[in-house]
Amino acid sequence: MTKPAIEIKLSKSKKQKPLAEQLEFGKVFTDHMFLADYLEGEGWSNHRIVPYEPLMLDPAATIFHYGQTVFEGMKAYLDKDGSVRLFRPEENMRRMNQSGERLCMPQFDVENALDALKQLIITDREWIPATEGTSLYIRPFMIATEPYLGVAPSKKYIFVIILSPVGSYYKEGIHPVKILVENEYVRAVAGGTGMAKTAGNYASGLRAQEIADRKGYSQVLWLDGVERKYIEEVGSMNVFFKINGEVITPALNGSILDGITRKSIIQLLNHWNVPVTERKISMEEIRSAQQEGTLEEAFGTGTAAVISPIGEFNWSDEKLVVNSGETGELSKKLYETLTGIQKGDLEDPFGWTFEV
Ligand code: COI
Repeated sequence: MTKPAIEIKLSKSKKQKPLAEQLEFGKVFTDHMFLADYLEGEGWSNHRIVPYEPLMLDPAATIFHYGQTVFEGMKAYLDKDGSVRLFRPEENMRRMNQSGERLCMPQFDVENALDALKQLIITDREWIPATEGTSLYIRPFMIATEPYLGVAPSKKYIFVIILSPVGSYYKEGIHPVKILVENEYVRAVAGGTGMAKTAGNYASGLRAQEIADRKGYSQVLWLDGVERKYIEEVGSMNVFFKINGEVITPALNGSILDGITRKSIIQLLNHWNVPVTERKISMEEIRSAQQEGTLEEAFGTGTAAVISPIGEFNWSDEKLVVNSGETGELSKKLYETLTGIQKGDLEDPFGWTFEV
């Protein structure tokens, strides 16, 4: 298959860049974006990099009514030699296609997506922040654009990549976050779209997140939608527990997102010979471990959040403090190793990083 040419139209003016130390998550965007168009029967065309600007869409476009959309999240880092590094980007693009499959959306060739991404990053290279704790967040997404109010897969789509220089996702940074265990609302059930990275999963989580915010908690922890017993994931992260020397994370069950950071952490722990198990784990088990003093650490993993230590769970108004609310040794080592590999400061024995 021949590679599609990418037309580049550069912006006439450059936006002012924020100071690296003032960066928040996802609030500013670079000068350019990538776009491609899809039409059923013709495939993808019109691959282009253009100035970042609002999209013009028909108000009847399927995305607005039935939410046919998928997205991804990745990060680019500047290494100490000034080269740009991406972390397992092919995994994200593959996952986008898996999510798309679930939502009856077209596939976007992984190699073409990586080419587009590389060219976009090269175009906006000067936007990559270099300060500790910052990176260039990459948001590829696909939306259904056919103007049609019938409930059916759209015949038209656009694939877009935008870039945003970011600081840490949580205001706590690498300090432990507090999590509210959600007993009323659920995020997803097996057979639904929980394993796909699609907008609806996040929209349905907003009410619980708002309640958690009001109570002073950073995120909610979702329980399974059937028994409200087993742990699924945390708002924007997968979750891990260290109990009695063993690391446990909920097994992928169709309603949990197959996180790329999650997968990488499991590989790292295996590499270090730290016992790690993927299995069902209930909140009851976490409470017993906390009461017996065997709950050593808990942390979340995700592209945006990286490794985020958890210092407290609130479950039905019972506060379960983890490691006296401090960052645990393993969470710290995982954070340092993962970010070290991502930024090219540490050797990458797994071949995870990709130089642009
Ligand atoms: C990511 O970790 O990149 C995500 O996509 C989570 C997002 C909802 C902030």
